[in-house]
Amino acid sequence: MIQEPVSPEIESAEPEATRRQADVAESSRANRGWWDRNADEYQIEHGTFLGDDRFVWGPEGLDEVEAELLGPPEDLKGKDVLEIGAGAAQCSRWLAAQGARPVALDLSHRQLQHSLRIGGAFPLVCADAGALPFADGSFDLACSAYGALPFVADPVLVLKEVRRVLRPGGRFVFSVTHPIRWAFPDEPGPAGLSVAASYFDRTPYVEQDEEGRAVYVEHHRTVGDRVRDIVAGGFRLVDLVEPEWPSWNTSEWGGWSPLRGNLIPGTAIFVCVRD
Ligand SMILES: C[S@@+](CC[C@H](N)C(=O)[O-])C[C@H]1O[C@@H](n2cnc3c(N)ncnc32)[C@H](O)[C@@H]1O
Repeated sequence: MIQEPVSPEIESAEPEATRRQADVAESSRANRGWWDRNADEYQIEHGTFLGDDRFVWGPEGLDEVEAELLGPPEDLKGKDVLEIGAGAAQCSRWLAAQGARPVALDLSHRQLQHSLRIGGAFPLVCADAGALPFADGSFDLACSAYGALPFVADPVLVLKEVRRVLRPGGRFVFSVTHPIRWAFPDEPGPAGLSVAASYFDRTPYVEQDEEGRAVYVEHHRTVGDRVRDIVAGGFRLVDLVEPEWPSWNTSEWGGWSPLRGNLIPGTAIFVCVRD
C-alpha cells in the first residue's frame, strides 16, 4: 500500500490512520487532495525509479518492454490508449514512443502538472476514473499502473466505465497492491512478514484529520473480489501476473522491499479483455 506522511507544513496535525468505511465521494475527495498535496514528494522520491518515459508496472520494476501485457510493442503503433491514474504519465510517454496515441487521465491536477514539466505531445485529462469524459468506443486499449483501482470505493463502476470507452476486443491491464499484502503490516523490514490482520477484512484504510474527515483512502479487495469485479464490469480475465522480485532491484518503495518481495507477492496485474 502506498502510504506516505502528509507534509507537516501543510497539515496542522498528523492524520490518524484507521480502518473504517469510506464511500465513493469521500474516497475521491480525500485522494484528490492527498495526491495534489503529495505529488511533488512522490515524484521526487519515485521519479528516478519510474523513469520519465518507461512503463513500469510496480515497485518490483516489471517493465512493459519485457512483460508485453498490452501486446507486442510493434502492435501499439496507431492505437488509441487511455492511461488511468497516470500520475506524471511516464507510461503514456513510453506508449507515445511506440507510435501509440495515449491520453493520460488522473484525478490529481498536481500529478498532471508533473507530466507537463517532463513534457510530451499527448492530451492530459483531469478527471475521476469513475466518470470518464470520453465517448463510447474511444480507445483500443486501457492501462493503469497502480492508478485509481487501489483507491476507489466502487471498482465495478470504474471497470464499467473503462469497458464503455473501449472498442470491442480492447484490453484493460491494471496493477494494484497484491491483496495478500493487506494481511501484513506495511513495513519493508522483518515486521512486514508477520500476519497482523485478516486478509478477508475489506474495511478501507483511512487517514483522517482532527474532524474525522478522510484525507487519504485505500480500498481492499481479495483476489476473488477482483475476479468477480472484473466479470461484473463486463470483462474477461485472461491473465493474473504476480511479478517476482528481480535480483537487480535493491530499492525499497514504502512497504515493498527485496526482503518481502522474495517471499510474498507485492503486486497483482490483471489482464482483461472487452469482448
Ligand atoms: C500510485 S499513483 C500511480 C501513478 C502512476 N501510474 C505511477 O506509476 O507513478 C496513483 C495515481 O492514481 C490517481 N488516482 C487516485 N484515485 C483516482 C481516481 N479515482 N481517478 C483517477 N485517478 C486516480 C492519483 O492521483 C495518482 O496519481
